[in-house]
Amino acid sequence: MEMRFSVFRYNPETDEAPRMQDYELRELRPDMMLLDALKLIRAQDETLAFRSSCGEGVCGSDGMNVNGRNMLACITPLAQLKSPVTIRPLSGLPVVRDLVVDLGNFWRQYREVQPWLVRHDPLPEVELRQSPEDRERLDGLYECILCACCSSACPSYWWNPNRFLGPAALLQASRFIEDSRDQATAERLDRLDDAYKLFRCHTIMNCADVCPKGLNPSRAIGQIRQRMLKQFI
Ligand code: SF4
Ligand code: FES
Repeated sequence: MEMRFSVFRYNPETDEAPRMQDYELRELRPDMMLLDALKLIRAQDETLAFRSSCGEGVCGSDGMNVNGRNMLACITPLAQLKSPVTIRPLSGLPVVRDLVVDLGNFWRQYREVQPWLVRHDPLPEVELRQSPEDRERLDGLYECILCACCSSACPSYWWNPNRFLGPAALLQASRFIEDSRDQATAERLDRLDDAYKLFRCHTIMNCADVCPKGLNPSRAIGQIRQRMLKQFI
Protein backbone atom coordinates (compact mmCIF):
# COMPACT_ATOMS: atom_id res chain seq x y z
CA MET A 1 0.00 0.00 0.00
CA GLU A 2 1.25 3.49 -0.88
CA MET A 3 0.26 6.67 0.91
CA ARG A 4 1.10 10.34 0.72
CA PHE A 5 1.47 12.62 3.73
CA SER A 6 1.46 16.37 4.04
CA VAL A 7 3.12 17.30 7.32
CA PHE A 8 3.26 20.64 9.14
CA ARG A 9 6.83 21.83 9.54
CA TYR A 10 7.93 24.78 11.64
CA ASN A 11 10.92 25.62 13.75
CA PRO A 12 10.15 28.99 15.37
CA GLU A 13 13.86 29.52 15.99
CA THR A 14 14.88 29.32 12.34
CA ASP A 15 11.79 29.45 10.07
CA GLU A 16 10.05 32.65 9.08
CA ALA A 17 6.72 30.86 8.66
CA PRO A 18 5.23 27.36 8.89
CA ARG A 19 5.01 25.25 5.73
CA MET A 20 3.61 21.85 4.74
CA GLN A 21 6.06 19.20 3.55
CA ASP A 22 5.07 16.24 1.40
CA TYR A 23 6.29 12.68 1.92
CA GLU A 24 5.44 9.42 0.20
CA LEU A 25 5.67 5.97 1.74
CA ARG A 26 5.53 2.67 -0.14
CA GLU A 27 5.02 -0.88 1.05
CA LEU A 28 2.87 0.12 4.01
CA ARG A 29 0.73 -2.58 5.58
CA PRO A 30 -2.94 -1.76 6.26
CA ASP A 31 -2.54 -2.88 9.88
CA MET A 32 0.12 -0.22 10.49
CA MET A 33 -0.72 2.77 12.66
CA LEU A 34 -0.08 6.39 11.80
CA LEU A 35 2.73 6.46 14.36
CA ASP A 36 4.49 3.69 12.39
CA ALA A 37 4.25 5.86 9.27
CA LEU A 38 5.64 8.89 11.12
CA LYS A 39 8.60 6.80 12.27
CA LEU A 40 9.21 5.70 8.67
CA ILE A 41 9.06 9.33 7.56
CA ARG A 42 11.55 10.27 10.25
CA ALA A 43 13.84 7.50 9.02
CA GLN A 44 13.84 9.41 5.68
CA ASP A 45 14.03 12.86 7.25
CA GLU A 46 15.49 12.97 10.73
CA THR A 47 14.63 16.66 11.17
CA LEU A 48 10.91 15.87 11.69
CA ALA A 49 9.89 16.31 15.34
CA PHE A 50 6.94 14.61 17.05
CA ARG A 51 6.30 13.10 20.48
CA SER A 52 5.48 9.49 21.27
CA SER A 53 6.21 6.99 23.99
CA CYS A 54 3.99 3.99 24.81
CA GLY A 55 2.69 3.26 21.29
CA GLU A 56 -0.51 1.86 22.81
CA GLY A 57 -2.85 4.74 23.57
CA VAL A 58 -1.81 4.96 27.21
CA CYS A 59 0.68 7.80 27.68
CA GLY A 60 -1.21 10.47 25.75
CA SER A 61 1.91 11.99 24.18
CA ASP A 62 1.13 11.70 20.45
CA GLY A 63 -2.04 13.72 20.09
CA MET A 64 -2.11 15.52 16.73
CA ASN A 65 -4.53 16.87 14.16
CA VAL A 66 -4.99 14.39 11.30
CA ASN A 67 -7.15 15.24 8.30
CA GLY A 68 -8.78 17.93 10.45
CA ARG A 69 -9.50 15.83 13.53
CA ASN A 70 -7.52 15.40 16.77
CA MET A 71 -6.40 11.85 17.47
CA LEU A 72 -3.59 9.69 18.85
CA ALA A 73 -1.22 8.61 16.09
CA CYS A 74 -0.39 5.29 17.77
CA ILE A 75 -3.93 3.92 17.73
CA THR A 76 -5.01 5.35 14.38
CA PRO A 77 -4.86 2.65 11.67
CA LEU A 78 -3.53 3.89 8.32
CA ALA A 79 -6.32 1.94 6.66
CA GLN A 80 -8.84 4.38 8.18
CA LEU A 81 -7.15 7.49 6.75
CA LYS A 82 -7.72 9.14 3.42
CA SER A 83 -4.54 9.78 1.44
CA PRO A 84 -2.95 12.32 1.26
CA VAL A 85 -2.97 12.46 5.05
CA THR A 86 -2.65 16.00 6.38
CA ILE A 87 -0.93 16.10 9.76
CA ARG A 88 -0.76 19.22 11.89
CA PRO A 89 0.05 19.88 15.55
CA LEU A 90 -2.81 20.14 18.06
CA SER A 91 -4.46 23.48 17.37
CA GLY A 92 -4.66 26.38 19.79
CA LEU A 93 -1.36 25.50 21.46
CA PRO A 94 2.02 27.15 20.80
CA VAL A 95 4.27 25.11 18.50
CA VAL A 96 7.66 24.15 19.88
CA ARG A 97 8.67 22.44 16.64
CA ASP A 98 6.77 20.64 13.86
CA LEU A 99 4.17 18.43 15.59
CA VAL A 100 5.43 19.15 19.12
CA VAL A 101 3.31 21.65 21.07
CA ASP A 102 3.99 23.51 24.31
CA LEU A 103 1.75 21.97 26.99
CA GLY A 104 2.98 24.23 29.81
CA ASN A 105 -0.37 26.01 30.21
CA PHE A 106 -2.25 22.70 29.94
CA TRP A 107 -0.25 21.23 32.83
CA ARG A 108 -0.59 24.44 34.89
CA GLN A 109 -4.37 24.12 34.55
CA TYR A 110 -4.21 20.44 35.51
CA ARG A 111 -2.32 21.38 38.71
CA GLU A 112 -4.81 24.17 39.39
CA VAL A 113 -7.67 21.69 39.94
CA GLN A 114 -5.58 19.86 42.58
CA PRO A 115 -5.77 16.39 41.01
CA TRP A 116 -5.22 14.51 44.25
CA LEU A 117 -7.36 13.36 47.18
CA VAL A 118 -7.66 15.97 49.94
CA ARG A 119 -8.42 14.66 53.44
CA HIS A 120 -9.10 16.76 56.52
CA ASP A 121 -9.59 13.74 58.82
CA PRO A 122 -6.55 11.69 59.78
CA LEU A 123 -5.84 8.91 57.28
CA PRO A 124 -6.79 5.38 58.39
CA GLU A 125 -3.95 2.97 59.06
CA VAL A 126 -4.73 0.61 56.21
CA GLU A 127 -6.95 2.00 53.45
CA LEU A 128 -9.73 4.42 52.61
CA ARG A 129 -12.67 2.20 51.80
CA GLN A 130 -15.19 3.00 49.10
CA SER A 131 -18.48 1.25 48.30
CA PRO A 132 -18.83 -0.32 44.82
CA GLU A 133 -21.51 2.31 44.05
CA ASP A 134 -19.19 5.18 45.01
CA ARG A 135 -16.41 3.65 42.97
CA GLU A 136 -18.72 3.43 39.97
CA ARG A 137 -19.24 7.18 40.10
CA LEU A 138 -15.65 7.56 38.89
CA ASP A 139 -16.23 5.56 35.71
CA GLY A 140 -15.86 7.84 32.71
CA LEU A 141 -13.66 10.21 34.72
CA TYR A 142 -10.56 8.35 35.89
CA GLU A 143 -9.61 6.92 32.48
CA CYS A 144 -8.34 10.23 31.06
CA ILE A 145 -4.76 9.99 29.75
CA LEU A 146 -4.25 13.79 29.49
CA CYS A 147 -3.56 13.77 25.77
CA ALA A 148 -5.03 17.30 25.32
CA CYS A 149 -7.00 16.26 22.20
CA CYS A 150 -10.21 17.60 23.81
CA SER A 151 -8.93 20.98 25.03
CA SER A 152 -7.22 21.57 21.70
CA ALA A 153 -10.50 20.90 19.84
CA CYS A 154 -12.52 23.33 21.96
CA PRO A 155 -13.24 26.80 20.49
CA SER A 156 -13.87 28.24 23.97
CA TYR A 157 -10.37 27.11 24.90
CA TRP A 158 -8.83 28.68 21.78
CA TRP A 159 -10.43 32.02 22.69
CA ASN A 160 -9.54 32.00 26.40
CA PRO A 161 -6.67 29.55 26.89
CA ASN A 162 -5.43 31.25 30.04
CA ARG A 163 -8.75 31.86 31.78
CA PHE A 164 -10.97 28.91 30.78
CA LEU A 165 -9.58 25.72 32.33
CA GLY A 166 -10.61 23.62 29.34
CA PRO A 167 -12.33 20.22 29.12
CA ALA A 168 -9.37 18.08 30.20
CA ALA A 169 -8.67 19.95 33.46
CA LEU A 170 -12.39 20.19 34.24
CA LEU A 171 -12.87 16.45 33.72
CA GLN A 172 -10.07 15.95 36.25
CA ALA A 173 -11.75 18.41 38.63
CA SER A 174 -14.94 16.37 38.36
CA ARG A 175 -13.04 13.14 38.99
CA PHE A 176 -12.04 14.42 42.48
CA ILE A 177 -15.33 16.22 43.21
CA GLU A 178 -17.16 12.92 42.62
CA ASP A 179 -14.74 10.85 44.73
CA SER A 180 -16.42 9.85 48.00
CA ARG A 181 -13.02 9.76 49.73
CA ASP A 182 -12.24 13.41 49.01
CA GLN A 183 -13.12 15.96 51.70
CA ALA A 184 -12.57 19.21 49.80
CA THR A 185 -15.68 19.24 47.59
CA ALA A 186 -16.92 22.66 48.81
CA GLU A 187 -13.49 24.28 48.34
CA ARG A 188 -13.13 22.73 44.89
CA LEU A 189 -16.54 24.05 43.82
CA ASP A 190 -15.78 27.52 45.26
CA ARG A 191 -12.56 27.72 43.27
CA LEU A 192 -14.37 26.81 40.03
CA ASP A 193 -17.21 29.30 40.55
CA ASP A 194 -15.82 31.78 38.05
CA ALA A 195 -17.15 33.29 34.84
CA TYR A 196 -14.17 31.96 32.90
CA LYS A 197 -12.65 28.90 34.62
CA LEU A 198 -15.80 26.76 34.29
CA PHE A 199 -18.57 28.84 32.74
CA ARG A 200 -16.82 29.50 29.43
CA CYS A 201 -17.90 26.00 28.40
CA HIS A 202 -20.70 26.49 25.89
CA THR A 203 -21.41 22.75 25.47
CA ILE A 204 -20.03 22.71 21.93
CA MET A 205 -19.20 19.01 22.50
CA ASN A 206 -16.06 18.85 20.32
CA CYS A 207 -14.34 17.42 23.41
CA ALA A 208 -16.54 14.33 23.55
CA ASP A 209 -16.36 13.97 19.79
CA VAL A 210 -12.56 13.66 19.65
CA CYS A 211 -11.65 11.96 22.95
CA PRO A 212 -9.69 8.80 22.03
CA LYS A 213 -10.79 7.13 25.28
CA GLY A 214 -14.50 7.74 24.59
CA LEU A 215 -14.88 10.11 27.56
CA ASN A 216 -17.31 13.00 27.76
CA PRO A 217 -15.74 16.07 29.42
CA SER A 218 -18.81 18.12 28.53
CA ARG A 219 -20.99 15.85 30.68
CA ALA A 220 -18.47 16.10 33.53
CA ILE A 221 -18.63 19.90 33.31
CA GLY A 222 -22.44 19.66 33.50
CA GLN A 223 -22.13 17.53 36.66
CA ILE A 224 -19.91 20.17 38.27
CA ARG A 225 -22.52 22.83 37.48
CA GLN A 226 -25.25 20.68 39.05
CA ARG A 227 -23.13 20.16 42.16
CA MET A 228 -22.62 23.92 42.39
CA LEU A 229 -26.34 24.56 42.14
CA LYS A 230 -27.05 22.04 44.90
CA GLN A 231 -24.40 23.61 47.11
CA PHE A 232 -25.84 27.11 46.81
CA ILE A 233 -29.60 26.40 47.13
FE1 SF4 B 1 -7.50 13.15 26.15
FE2 SF4 B 1 -10.07 12.39 26.53
FE3 SF4 B 1 -8.55 13.08 28.64
FE4 SF4 B 1 -9.35 14.94 26.93
S1 SF4 B 1 -10.68 13.70 28.26
S2 SF4 B 1 -7.29 14.74 27.76
S3 SF4 B 1 -9.30 13.85 24.99
S4 SF4 B 1 -8.23 11.33 27.28
FE1 FES C 1 1.41 6.84 24.04
FE2 FES C 1 0.27 7.24 21.65
S1 FES C 1 2.39 6.96 22.10
S2 FES C 1 -0.66 7.34 23.60
